[in-house]
Amino acid sequence: MNTPLFASLAIALTGLLAQAAHAEPAPSAALKSGKQVYNETCFACHDSGVAQAPRFRNKADWAPLIEEGQGILTAHAWVGVRAMPAKGGKPELRLTEFARAVAYMASQSGGDWKDPDARMMKKIRHEAEERLEKSIKEMQAMKKELHRLNETDD
Ligand code: HEC
Repeated sequence: MNTPLFASLAIALTGLLAQAAHAEPAPSAALKSGKQVYNETCFACHDSGVAQAPRFRNKADWAPLIEEGQGILTAHAWVGVRAMPAKGGKPELRLTEFARAVAYMASQSGGDWKDPDARMMKKIRHEAEERLEKSIKEMQAMKKELHRLNETDD
């Protein structure tokens, strides 16, 4: 096979593989590490403590959070809490990647947290679901109130 043809085939194949990778959800081996996610996304607020974000490697900031436990803290942060945007403001982040970032931050800030295993991921999903259900109920109550106000015109 002549070299230029081979090169262009290789390029075409690489493109196809890249497309396939884009269409399919990435296998877990291809997921980003907690450190990568932290550096790319969370760092923006958690390095300096923007809007009271708990600061990376600040044990005093992290002690009460670590106390909450990995399942609960990760789920609440993923759903979003006060000035902490849901998914760290990065919608394309997978839950596992987000959870790894939380574990990385906690492990560098006085906690003994590891990358979540299947059991921990199940717990995080369960906690996140409960948190979301609670928010949905609160919003439905607000909607009801709005309709009632509409009817009485005030
Ligand atoms: C735009 C700024 C911003 C970005 C980006 C951000 N955070 Fe936060 N985060 C905050 C703020 C502010 C708080 C404190 C919220 C509060 O307690 O009022 C917070 C709190 C947290 C908490 C504690 C939640 C709790 O229950 O108190 C965790 C865990 C967390 N962030 C993880 C992350 C991870 C992981 C990322 C990256 C994927 C990230 N954050 C990206 C602003 C940010």
